[in-house]
Amino acid sequence: GVGPALKERLAKCPGFRGNRVNENIKMENNKVVDTIDIEDMGDKGVFCRCWKSKKFPYCDGSHNKHNEDTGDNVGPLIVKKA
Ligand code: FES
Repeated sequence: GVGPALKERLAKCPGFRGNRVNENIKMENNKVVDTIDIEDMGDKGVFCRCWKSKKFPYCDGSHNKHNEDTGDNVGPLIVKKA
């Protein structure tokens, strides 16, 4: 489980609600799953891993504000064609 020090840190995070990661995206779904065809991706795809992007599943840079607000260190997954 989560130790007391981490719990205290999490409690100070403005966005922290229980154990949720996702607070905005497709909230009506039991599970958010996205499928991207490689053919539609162009030379590279930049995918959100912070769950804050307004263009989810693509990164829109929202991770920067999230990291500033929370002390987190997350960033996108970049998938490139060779
Ligand atoms: Fe979520 Fe960039 S916006 S990783």
